Amino acid sequence: QEDLFKNVISHAKEYGFIFPSSEIYDGLSAVYDYAQNGVELKKNIREYWWKSMVQMNDNIVGLDAAILMHPTTWKASGHVDAFNDPLIDNKDSKKRYRADVLIEDYAEKLNLKAKKEIEKAKVRFGDTFNEHEFITTNARVVEYLAKEREILERMARSLGAGDLEDVKALIEELEIACPDSGSRNWTEVRQFNLMFGTKLGASADTAMDLYLRPETAQGIFVNFLNVQKSGRMKVPFGIAQTGKAFRNEIVARQFIFRMREFEQMEMQFFVRPGDEMHWYEHWKTARLNWHLSLGLGKDNYRFHDHEKLAHYANAAADIEFNFPFGFKELEGIHSRTDFDLKAHEEFSGRKLQYFDAELNQNYVPYVVETSVGLDRMFLAVFATSLKEETLEDGSTRTVLKLPAVLAPTKAAIFPLVKKDGLPEIAHKIIDDLRWDFSVTYDEKDAVGRRYRRQDALGTPFCITVDHQTIEDQTVTIRHRDTMKQDRVAIVDLKSIIENEVSM
Ligand code: GAP
Repeated sequence: QEDLFKNVISHAKEYGFIFPSSEIYDGLSAVYDYAQNGVELKKNIREYWWKSMVQMNDNIVGLDAAILMHPTTWKASGHVDAFNDPLIDNKDSKKRYRADVLIEDYAEKLNLKAKKEIEKAKVRFGDTFNEHEFITTNARVVEYLAKEREILERMARSLGAGDLEDVKALIEELEIACPDSGSRNWTEVRQFNLMFGTKLGASADTAMDLYLRPETAQGIFVNFLNVQKSGRMKVPFGIAQTGKAFRNEIVARQFIFRMREFEQMEMQFFVRPGDEMHWYEHWKTARLNWHLSLGLGKDNYRFHDHEKLAHYANAAADIEFNFPFGFKELEGIHSRTDFDLKAHEEFSGRKLQYFDAELNQNYVPYVVETSVGLDRMFLAVFATSLKEETLEDGSTRTVLKLPAVLAPTKAAIFPLVKKDGLPEIAHKIIDDLRWDFSVTYDEKDAVGRRYRRQDALGTPFCITVDHQTIEDQTVTIRHRDTMKQDRVAIVDLKSIIENEVSM
């Protein structure tokens, strides 16, 4: 798994998908740039989301709100007071950790330790096998590890509940119960606000403190009534938005899974109070189906229903994906009640109410939110599509089996040789296709090597122009996944490609 993840990261760099940001200055931690192929894949995922959410739904419209917002927004939303992560410092290494991630790591190490201890015990008692002693030793190891794990789990739960006092007490308990737990090196847990601050205005005394938005959702809430009125929208209706969000993550790792600057694709669905559970279930199903439509395998997804709810929610679930490092959150679906709109009413002094003509009644709508990270989608799609295949002749090929609809380049056109008018025909084919599809030309190296290169880039089709083309206006089309080759007429290329790559 670890090797697979390393392969994913190096493939992304080698083939022009993702580079570390400002790499010539040794990069910036947890910030990444999307390169020539990455930007296309990311754009295609965004478009696929936008089409299914906005274009395919009569009652959902789009929005592109600014990243900078009035600072009171973040007071009202609760981010100034409560958008914190628990932080823990290691006194020895001076390293800083997110407490919950540290606990997760620690629990994983415990598992490994348990396995190792039991192996050691087996070796120790292997020759003169004393069953009684073996079992006693095993039991001691297991008991000791179980105690550690239990304390860690309680710590994790307290952190989720935002109860730092509890965590402090548990750290002490851990030190007493399991003296070699390493907890001695930790400082106390404290809360750390994740928002990036910046300033608006030139002079120091009049400048206004702003934040880079930590989620796109608030741009939708503050525009709710503007959109409703100008679009004459009737509840239930949705507002969808994609855009950058920023979080000063304490532990930023796992490549583009947890970044400091990332992109969200969010949709706020405004409903009648009391209807929210119906719509919550509706969107849970609809969003899972959207993911499944990409064909990455249904076993790679699972729901995680939240037991502990955020202050604004009355139901919440994550769609988790099987990333190279295990199942982790890909998308969140939250029933946010009227918390956000009511809070904005209170802080702005403006009414954010909807007149429901059917009920002849004014109310603040309830909100069901779907929120998916674009970069996490990218990682899910990219990592799952990257395959190392052994072919019939024993050779291997690296192939990026991206869903064709998302592939950065849909077809690569090759002249078999760089002469006899073949390049000219290839260019003509490109000109005929390029308005509809992203296509590329390649004449370098033997055709076999060109195929391999396109496989690694995820291009679904390679089209080769040869001498027969001059005779009969046909070309060879090779399919990425099956490597099957067909002879087809040039005039049919558009519909063949269309068939495979259309949404
Ligand atoms: N408006 C709700 C909201 O922002 P969230 O669970 O904090 O909820 C939603 O974020 C999604 O955004 C996550 O499911 C994840 O896909 C993505 N996301 C959150 N933090 C991220 C980060 N640091 N890097 C990349 N993606 C992130």
